[in-house]
Amino acid sequence: MPIYLDHSATTPLDPTVLETMLPFFSQHYGNSKAVHAFGREADRAVERARASVATLLNCAPNEVVFTSGGTESDNLALRGPAQFARTEGRPITLITGPVEHHAISLTARHLVETLGATLRIVPVDHFGRVAPDDLRAALDNLPAGGLALVSLIHTNNEIGTRSDIAALAAVAHEHGALFHTDAVQSGGYLALDVPALGVDMLSLSSHKFYGPKGAGVLVLGDGVPFLTSTSGASHEDGRRAGTHNVPGIVGTAAALEYVRANMDVHNAHLTRLRERLVSGILEQVPDAELTGHPTDRLPGHASFVFQGIESTMLLMHLDQHGIAASSGSACKVGNPKPSALLGALGYGPEWTLGGLRLSLGFHTTEDEIDTVLDVLPGIVERVRKLHAVSLS
Ligand SMILES: Cc1ncc(COP(=O)(O)O)c(C=O)c1O
Repeated sequence: MPIYLDHSATTPLDPTVLETMLPFFSQHYGNSKAVHAFGREADRAVERARASVATLLNCAPNEVVFTSGGTESDNLALRGPAQFARTEGRPITLITGPVEHHAISLTARHLVETLGATLRIVPVDHFGRVAPDDLRAALDNLPAGGLALVSLIHTNNEIGTRSDIAALAAVAHEHGALFHTDAVQSGGYLALDVPALGVDMLSLSSHKFYGPKGAGVLVLGDGVPFLTSTSGASHEDGRRAGTHNVPGIVGTAAALEYVRANMDVHNAHLTRLRERLVSGILEQVPDAELTGHPTDRLPGHASFVFQGIESTMLLMHLDQHGIAASSGSACKVGNPKPSALLGALGYGPEWTLGGLRLSLGFHTTEDEIDTVLDVLPGIVERVRKLHAVSLS
């Protein structure tokens, strides 16, 4: 049986979530905007899902905007306020970190090019966390009357580190800036509470927490200035046009309910297996380091760097052994690209090609972890030898 250790990339749809979704494909298939009984049924399902998501996140139902996933939620969170500020001719300052997902970092760069926004990057420590004082410094001397918008990741997809978002959001608000967090990796493992985090906006993606792909949420705080990016009908209170993906929306709520109901048991299981995996790898593989924070991290997330290795080769060898894993960097065989994130954490060039992410799921077993511990040390040794030969 293949071993799937790439749950940070995506998770399987939970069977109970699928069951909840199924009638909305072929039975209750009405358009939620239609006035007839089919439409009213779909609309009720959407609003039930919205109420449930709002309750779980402790926000108001009208602050829940259903989207097509994390990428869209991140785009809307930056573009909505920036485009609104642009219509008023106000200067736009965006503040992010160097370890953000591309859905944030590339959107921010696009807004620099298209709207003339100014981009400030706050440094991170070796674990990928922004210090409140560094954020304070980045918020110094903001242009008068402008929009300042901070976006910092809640838990990092590549290295699993969890940031103290409540402290960072408080700093942003001291300076009159809006605060968004990409909590896409957190939704399945942390009981996110919007007021406790103190954020104005928060992104989630359903397929990261055993829900459907192509569905997600942007929590958009009441009063956040926002200009929609999609013109069309008035869905989602005019903030995101387009016929509702009713099965996806119903599945989003069902998945969030499922992960919340089982969170303690799941997290205890994940943490135990992760610790076994991490200590086994660090004991058995020379010149290996855990990346990200050792304890303040996602429960099922184990990420490493191996000196003198090209992770694409490592991933191919693992795949041949039936183990599905990933690296954070977008590299191709024969054309390796160092991970920018690992570089931002202070790793030198002999490390930045060799990232490995093993992300565990609720159904990962101890036997699967033991199989990885059996085969990984030998694979690393072989790949290191091949790498040395290719350099000679
Ligand atoms: C931190 C983070 N943000 C955003 C996304 C994008 O989410 P989606 O796949 O739903 O577009 C991902 C997915 O990998 C992610 O890990």
